[in-house]
Amino acid sequence: MAQSLTILGIESSCDDTAAAVVRLTDRPEILSSVVEGQTALHADFGGVVPEIAARAHAERLDGCVERALHAAGMTLTDMDAIAVTAGPGLIGGVLSGVMLARGLAAATGLPLLGINHLAGHALTPRLTDGLAYPYLMLLVSGGHCQFLIVKGPESFTRLGGTIDDAPGEAFDKVAKMLGLPQPGGPAVEAEACSGTARRFTLPRPLLDRPGCDLSFSGLKTAVLRARDGVVAEKGGLTRADRADLCAAFQTAVCDVLAEKSRRAMAAFRAEVGSEGSFGFAVAGGVAANGPIRQALQTLAEGQGFAFVAPPLGLCTDNAAMIAYAGLELMQTGRQDQGEVIARPRWPLDQTAPALIGSGKKGAKS
Ligand code: KG4
Ligand code: ZN
Repeated sequence: MAQSLTILGIESSCDDTAAAVVRLTDRPEILSSVVEGQTALHADFGGVVPEIAARAHAERLDGCVERALHAAGMTLTDMDAIAVTAGPGLIGGVLSGVMLARGLAAATGLPLLGINHLAGHALTPRLTDGLAYPYLMLLVSGGHCQFLIVKGPESFTRLGGTIDDAPGEAFDKVAKMLGLPQPGGPAVEAEACSGTARRFTLPRPLLDRPGCDLSFSGLKTAVLRARDGVVAEKGGLTRADRADLCAAFQTAVCDVLAEKSRRAMAAFRAEVGSEGSFGFAVAGGVAANGPIRQALQTLAEGQGFAFVAPPLGLCTDNAAMIAYAGLELMQTGRQDQGEVIARPRWPLDQTAPALIGSGKKGAKS
């Protein structure tokens, strides 16, 4: 049996407080994963309030770590290292996690690793499916939207990303303007099932421009105008109007993501080589959307890519992905110790130009 490494992961960069224990022998194994969401705390404010998030993380982190260790049947002395999200994200939350991890590392003498939250998402297909490097990754959530070539635990090329809202954020805003509950994605998807997409003509932003960058802000505004048009004409929205608006919006997001993914696949092959079979991995809350997932899977298969979508609990924010990224980095010999500092902005691909825009959940790059 290969040498075993066990690592405690800590995540607090947005609105989920999380801790997990992951062990690597010949393959990675999640021994525990605790996630405490904060949706109810922010519900009245229409978005994540950084100060409320930071306070909740500070109050809950200790308990999450204790529960994760307990669920794994272990104590800190069984760990080989601690991995903590050091950015990008909301600075107060990231600081809460980093300070706790630094304290634990100082008290126990364990090695400490500062992890890029986006690297955690990007490496998840290796944790769940053992996907080989290099692969193409699409992160689509309420806070992220980018295409990456993942070549190694610290080697990423960003092919493109959103220049304004993330798609999940657009789903949430569309739900809000139609009086649907939050989070908006599942609510809009459910309404869209009974709607007719072609009744409203909505734009497909940035498809007329080359490259893999995306934009969702104008699409959201177009839904608002279409809604106002119906309200002005009829004095209100019927259930069918709402369903048609949801269907039109979801189809537009689907079209944009599929076409940009097709371009990202071509860019991937241009960089990595056209021979061989590669993976196309999709992660983030929006990957839960049935029609979007189906369109991306069909596209991937048509283009000769193996489609990988990790289970939803590991696509959304969690600490198992942070622990796993720590395991990969440990194997490269990296250790950060007291040098781990909180970085609110921390692009995975340091050579790519910064993306404009920073939505409700913080920096996108
Ligand atoms: O990855 P995630 O849990 O959190 C972060 O954003 O970090 O993603 C949440 C986002 C929300 O904006 C939510 O509306 C969206 O993912 N979402 C969906 C669906 N389920 C969740 N969007 C479209 N369709 C869905 N079924
Ligand atoms: Zn995330």
